[in-house]
This record gives sequence, structure tokens and C-alpha cells, in this order.
Amino acid sequence: MQIQENISLKPYNTFGIEVIAKQFASVSSTAQLLSILNNCNEKPFVLGGGSNMLLTQDIDALVLHINTKGITFKHHDDKHVLVTAQAGENWHEFVLWCLNQNFGGIENLSLIPGNIGTAPIQNIGAYGVELKDVFHSCQAIHIESKSLKTFTKEDCKFGYRESVFKQDLKGQYIITEVTLCLTSNSHQLKTSYGAITDQLEAMKISTPTISSISDAVIAIRESKLPDPKKIGNSGSFFKNPVINKEQYEQLLINFPNMPCYKVSQTQVKVPAGWLIEHAGFKGKTLGNYGVHKKQALVLVNYDDANGQDIFELAKFIQKTIFRLFGITIDMEVNVI
Ligand code: EPU
Repeated sequence: MQIQENISLKPYNTFGIEVIAKQFASVSSTAQLLSILNNCNEKPFVLGGGSNMLLTQDIDALVLHINTKGITFKHHDDKHVLVTAQAGENWHEFVLWCLNQNFGGIENLSLIPGNIGTAPIQNIGAYGVELKDVFHSCQAIHIESKSLKTFTKEDCKFGYRESVFKQDLKGQYIITEVTLCLTSNSHQLKTSYGAITDQLEAMKISTPTISSISDAVIAIRESKLPDPKKIGNSGSFFKNPVINKEQYEQLLINFPNMPCYKVSQTQVKVPAGWLIEHAGFKGKTLGNYGVHKKQALVLVNYDDANGQDIFELAKFIQKTIFRLFGITIDMEVNVI
């Protein structure tokens, strides 16, 4: 393994932002990772799939690119398998691998960018499923003590796009492998998310399988989310805000079409994409960056945009949403 100097991180972040890392090393095993940490005086900057970050400045540190590969599985009981993947495995390729083995549970999470090692950090979710629904455990290195720890589902304190790795333990651990508990038969299909039902119907599929659900999700995502290989982006830039029912009912007076999803007896979640669209930002372009034309929740880098400019746009959107609706929308993406 080689430590390189002054490396562009453009190929390593899905937003495609050009910033320079003072030092860069790609690690392909946990042993290599431990060895480098043991020889490193300063705290490294850990990079997984680079799919949930907006880089706004050069990184004056050693960037560790986690590139560990490997998938194993063992039977858990007569209906479940425990599948363990190394952190550097690409998430979507992992989903396809599982479908190939007829392992179910993550088909709704098809085509999400990023790597398996970073999936627990923000508890990735889409089309009615979150990682926590199938999560069994993960292994991580404590950066300061260089010791390995196993985290159970409870330890991870998962929430909507949240986990302990974004809160109390932020920046303290590097996830090295993740184990999921998937079904090996009697799959529990989750087709209730409206768009999936419509897509399956359009595909003329009346008895769906885990593979056809994956195909449907891929078709939906491709129809409204930009492909990071073509247009730089980090998926949803903001989280959907949760507000009190009373505030929502007040807002309905002026905005009778504002959608919501029930969270509890007293709270609802409002789609931030709707708020951003109704604030007039959808499809807005400022030179080489802007708001995606098909999904207002996604900010895009059309060509060599500057991360700081995108960050300024995000802050302006936040302020405008607060001014118009009195709702605070939080950024989902890590701004560095
Ligand atoms: N909407 C608009 N305009 C838009 C976008 C959305 O009006 O430009 C409204 C529509 O009413 C639509 C509703 O928002 O019915 C929900 O839209 P969508 O189904 O696209 O979902 P979302 O809430 O915008 C969330 C996740 C996505 C995930 C989808 C599907 C968050 C922050 N985002 O988006 O996750 O793919 O649901 O489950 O929760 C990601 O995290 O990167 C991501 C793409």
C-alpha cells in the first residue's frame, strides 16, 4: 500500500467535486487499515463510496479510501441467512449479488449509490425499507485505541437517516464489515410504497418476486434520480422534515395540496422535495450547478462546480423554505 501526495478526490465523490487531498491511501484489508492507523499521528479522513458528502475545501490530512472487498454468508435458521460484506463493497453490486443467491430483504434498496460500510451511518432507506430492517451487526475500528468492536442493531441507535455513527460516536469509528440478516426463502415483499405498485403494474407483473421489485425500483430511480456517473449528485440533499400535526393543519389552509406521511399520533413528515418545488427551485440552474429538474430534493453538479457554491445554494434553499413555510429542513449530506 502506497501513500500518495496531492491527489484529486474528484473520482472518489459522487458529486464529482474537485478538491485535493494532502495524502491519500487506498486500503484493501482491515489488517492494512490497522497498520496504517498505528503509524498515523494525525486523525485520518475516512472515505467510503463518497456518495453522501459535499466537499467544499481541500483535505489537509491523510485520506483513507476504504476499498476492502469480500462477501460471505452462513445459514442462520431455516428461513434466514447472515450475509457479511466488507466495507468497500459497492452497495448496489452487493444487492445484485444477494438477488443472484435468492436472498431477500434489500431489493427495495436497489441502485442506492455508495458502499456497504457507509450504509449504516445514515441508515440508508428507500421505497418503504431501511437498512435497520435487515441489519444484524457491524464491526468497526475505534480510531483512537485501534481496537475492534462489534455493534448490534441496538448499539447503532438507528433512526430516519440517523445512527450513533452520526451522533454520539461521530468520527470515532471506521466500519470494516456489515452483517445483514436476509431471507433465504418465504421472502416478505414490500410493495406498498405507491410508486412500486404503479411500476409493477406498468411492467405487467402481477406476482412480484424480489428480482422484479428490484427491477421496478431501478426503473423508478432511473426515471427521476440523476445517475452520478453522468451528473454529479449525492441523492437527497435534505431530509424530509417532521413537524407537528397542528402546524401541518395550519399550513393546509394556505397550501391545501401539501402532502404528508404519518409519523405518530402527533407528528407528520412532509416531503422536502414538495416544499423545494413549491418554493420555485425545481430545475433552477446557476451556471454549472443547481436543483435537479425531476426531483427537487437533489442538488446537482453539471460540470466542475465548486462545492462551496453548492453549499451556499443549499443554505439559501433552507432559508427560503423557512421563510415561506416556517419549516426547517436539515441537510442529509455531510458538508466537509
Ligand atoms: N415531491 C415533489 N416534488 C419533487 C419531489 C418530491 O412534489 O420534486 C413530492 C411528491 O409529492 C412525492 C413526494 O414528494 O409524492 C415523495 O417523493 P419521493 O417518493 O420521490 O420521495 P422523497 O420523500 O422525495 C425519499 C428519500 C429518497 C428515496 C425516496 C423513495 C429522503 C430524504 N429521501 O425521497 O432517498 O429514494 O424517498 O423512498 O428521505 C436519498 O436518501 O438519497 C434518497 C434518494
